[in-house]
Amino acid sequence: MSPEEKGLGRRYLVETRYRREEMGKPDRSYSRASLYKDYPKAVRRLPLDPEAGRQAADLWQCLARRRSQRSYQDRPLTKDELAALLWATQGVTYASRGYLLRAAPSAGALYPVETYLAVHRVEGVEPGLWHFQVPDFALELLQACDCRQTLVGAGLSQGFLGAAGAVFIWTGVLNRAMWKYRERAIRYLFLDAGHICQNLMLAATALNLGVCPVGAFFDEEVERLVQVDGREEVALYLAAVGPL
Ligand SMILES: Cc1cc2nc3c(=O)[nH]c(=O)nc-3n(C[C@H](O)[C@H](O)[C@H](O)COP(=O)(O)O)c2cc1C
Repeated sequence: MSPEEKGLGRRYLVETRYRREEMGKPDRSYSRASLYKDYPKAVRRLPLDPEAGRQAADLWQCLARRRSQRSYQDRPLTKDELAALLWATQGVTYASRGYLLRAAPSAGALYPVETYLAVHRVEGVEPGLWHFQVPDFALELLQACDCRQTLVGAGLSQGFLGAAGAVFIWTGVLNRAMWKYRERAIRYLFLDAGHICQNLMLAATALNLGVCPVGAFFDEEVERLVQVDGREEVALYLAAVGPL
């Protein structure tokens, strides 16, 4: 076997292929995680207006203008800008038969990606670590703190993670998708996160804000920051946002 064939990544892709002969076989070894996460013991809840902050923009221009931006102006983000960005990433756009369909697609409408926000400088939003509660379009404060240094450290010293107004931190809740798609679900987690981040970048471009997606981070340090266990819920992706 060549080193390539032994590699975990390649093995994963081979072992999670759909094969005709194996389709439809039930596997009850995965429990089903709830579709939503909320924090009843949050320090505080901050309801946001899902229609706030939107500005008309030309989609084609946004596609052409989008760039990964790593330096930002000094001014803080506004609460409305943050609301518009959250809506673009995970806002509910249609309610149907118990499902809340969102701005970004998700395999099986299971939405295994959770959004946390490290708020550094946003007008009217206390600095700290927040969780985005999707059904109510609200933020839940997990911890009031200045987490710039921790986040920059967790992000391999990428300084813009501290200079941003806020950093989106996306995690994946494994059993929300694995009970249905088993090991193949991991592919879908990352695909879902990619859609979400692209929506963020396009919406930010429309609002003249800059975003830089970040895949380079120490997973355990990010998981510790957002207080998830790193087994059932894992860090997937980050994105820094600030004014241009
Ligand atoms: C999955 C992924 C991970 C990335 N991780 C980082 C990162 O850790 N740090 C960084 O500065 N840029 C990161 N980027 C941004 C890329 O460097 C950038 O998209 C690429 O250079 C193309 O530039 P553009 O986005 O301006 O078109 C990442 C992009 C993607 C899609």
